[in-house]
Amino acid sequence: MTQLQNQYGYFSDDGKEYIITDPQTPMPWVNVIANDIYGFVVSQAGSGYSWHTHASLNRVTRWDQDLIRDEWGKYLYIRDAESGEYWSPTLQPCGASNDAQQVRHGMGYSVFETRRDTLSSAVTYFVPLDATCELWLVRLENHGDTPRHLQLYSYLEWLLGAAPDWHREFHRTFIDTQYNAEHGALLATKVMWELPVPAKAHWNQPWAYAAFHSASVTPAGFDGDKRDFIGRHGSVHQPHAVIKGQSHNHAGRWGDPIASLHIDLTLAPGETREIVFSLGATESVEASLKLADRYKDLGTVHAALDSAQKYWQSVVTQISIQTPDTALNLMANGWLVYQAIAGRLKGRTAYYQTGGAFGFRDQLQDSLLWLLIGQPEKTLAQLRFHAAHQYKDGIVLHWWHPIADTGMRSDYSDDLLWLAFVLIHYLHETGDLASADEIVPFYDGDQATLKEHCMLAFEVALRRRSPRGLPLILKGDWNDGLNAVGGDGRGESVWMAHFLCYVLRGWADLPICDSATAERFRREADALTAAVNQHAWDGEWYWRASTDDGVLVGAKESPEGKIFLNAQTWSVLGGTADAQRAKQAMTSAREHLYMPYGPLLLAPAYSVPDPNIGYLSRYAPGIRENGGVYSHAACWAVLAERKLNGVQAAYDLWRTFCPARRGEEPDVYAGEPYVMPGNISGPLATVPGQAGWTWYTGSAAWYFRALVDGVLGIEARLNGLRVQAALPKEWDHFQVKRLYRGAWYDITIRRAKPGEATQRLVDGAAWAEDVLPIAKAGSTPVVVITL
Ligand code: GLC
Repeated sequence: MTQLQNQYGYFSDDGKEYIITDPQTPMPWVNVIANDIYGFVVSQAGSGYSWHTHASLNRVTRWDQDLIRDEWGKYLYIRDAESGEYWSPTLQPCGASNDAQQVRHGMGYSVFETRRDTLSSAVTYFVPLDATCELWLVRLENHGDTPRHLQLYSYLEWLLGAAPDWHREFHRTFIDTQYNAEHGALLATKVMWELPVPAKAHWNQPWAYAAFHSASVTPAGFDGDKRDFIGRHGSVHQPHAVIKGQSHNHAGRWGDPIASLHIDLTLAPGETREIVFSLGATESVEASLKLADRYKDLGTVHAALDSAQKYWQSVVTQISIQTPDTALNLMANGWLVYQAIAGRLKGRTAYYQTGGAFGFRDQLQDSLLWLLIGQPEKTLAQLRFHAAHQYKDGIVLHWWHPIADTGMRSDYSDDLLWLAFVLIHYLHETGDLASADEIVPFYDGDQATLKEHCMLAFEVALRRRSPRGLPLILKGDWNDGLNAVGGDGRGESVWMAHFLCYVLRGWADLPICDSATAERFRREADALTAAVNQHAWDGEWYWRASTDDGVLVGAKESPEGKIFLNAQTWSVLGGTADAQRAKQAMTSAREHLYMPYGPLLLAPAYSVPDPNIGYLSRYAPGIRENGGVYSHAACWAVLAERKLNGVQAAYDLWRTFCPARRGEEPDVYAGEPYVMPGNISGPLATVPGQAGWTWYTGSAAWYFRALVDGVLGIEARLNGLRVQAALPKEWDHFQVKRLYRGAWYDITIRRAKPGEATQRLVDGAAWAEDVLPIAKAGSTPVVVITL
């Protein structure tokens, strides 16, 4: 059985795989496969790239970000040694020349299956959990009644360092490739690494790794030079070495460094054979050879694949959500969690954006995901890690690079507050108050408790206000694209006022907050509330910002960009709007911003760049933050709808931008139906409703939280799990199994049958309150609520 089938593919019955039956998808439909250090992205065409630790500073293989051609990757060719015919087991690089082709993207692996005449192939790509390499497990089967003499060729281009290495002729002079015949492995090293580090080391240090490419059988030949392999004026589509069926067995320095292994094999009629290719990088040639040798053994490879698959299934099944909505269930029981962890927290890279750095606010927000799947210690680790990227004066790094550990001191107004925001959520989930006393160093020396780190951030945020008491926006707030509004230190942010109120009040309510601070923070929040309502109410909605010159952004008088979503939704979330204004603000948002495919970030989009606003206004109208649906902010709208207007409003909105549902119209939607896109084009774009920037988006974790907290109404509070029981009209029930403080809560909410009494039962006993009793760790309280 298939689920949500469209003309390109469908979800497998168990939801664990997305199966692409026609790889000519409207845009690349990719998978991000990574452990904590090593990973790769692979598209449905078989293209993509690999990295170690940092996908931009430490790229292992070369790739060109051309999503239309999508023809850079690490490829395999299969050649019939008798006829000379050759093809690829993936759509690229040889094109759709196979009788049947199917791609199965799973959590932690992708499989490419093809059949050509009597030969079938299945290539499984994955990353072992505990090694800095990837494996390509090739299975070939001869369905015919004569032997098949075959040649297998692999091909990839080394990059070995910072990407893109735009001056290719320069960079290739530093790379050395070697073939180690004893181990049957190609090795590649580089004696220069372009890292953003202090002057003496800049352009004056070796790449600190040795890359390798090997196979489970001894190669019959190899290539280390691009000219040899593809031929002068050749191409990966028709490489010279494969056409001829020969390798050149040549590597060394001053080549055009690539890696290709050539394997000969004969398959008897009915025979199946497995061959493994490995590719990776370690700190030394010796360690690389060791890793190459480890994965020559097929048993070891299968065990590694099995562990990787089991690991991911164990992670994504730490919550279970069953509702009558198929698309929702598919996103909720695996894909969103997988996207947030593999794509945002581990890999931090994808196809539309190749990253590798840490964003102060970005990965902190992403790490909220762990709270929903029973791994709060990971959220705490992220809190420590980010706190260690704060200066003694309270300012944080906007982003920083692992490896180089350099970053950008933040001039954004909001960054530093996310530390407290995430700590509040962590404490609500765990009750682990002692964590706030953990000592964490500052980026520039000295140390303080986590709580003190947060307090420093508050002091800075409270200080940075305009004469009329509104927060300054500075180089931008959550919305990076508003980067020219307040650079001179006068422009204000209304969103920041709402957000700051949220965090101040949230902090004041914590048991770790002393009463004097609590009182002060509540007073500050009240003052902000008064200021925002006195100055920032525009009649029917809140304006978004004021520029250094005092010009309003997101106001009726604005020629374009008249209303912004965040300024309305956060007035509800932050509690800054009174009931009447909240209602009015959200009604205006609905009227001006809600589209059938999601709520726009602002409207109408800027048709001409406004130098006083920033690059947001420079995107094409309707694209990304310029009046598209920005999924991250759209998730907050779901939470605001729930708070203000209840379950139906939240569910209706959540569904409008559910990828699995939008994927039913794939030629318009274009993005992967199984992961969140960063944005969906707005009404002024060429194709309204088209998804873009998939995978690498903070909306994966937020969309999941918008579902659990917002639609299902199950929220961790300091005093227990709060269930605001309600059902949208389309549902007669739903069931959630969620971990909270070590107990597995099994919660069913259902509509009473005619004549049946409504009730709330916890383990069979009546329970009148919203907040469930805190159960013993390891127990499995059963909650049944009949409405
Ligand atoms: C990007 C940035 C994120 C920012 C958002 C909105 O996703 O990575 O930090 O909040 O855009 O501008």
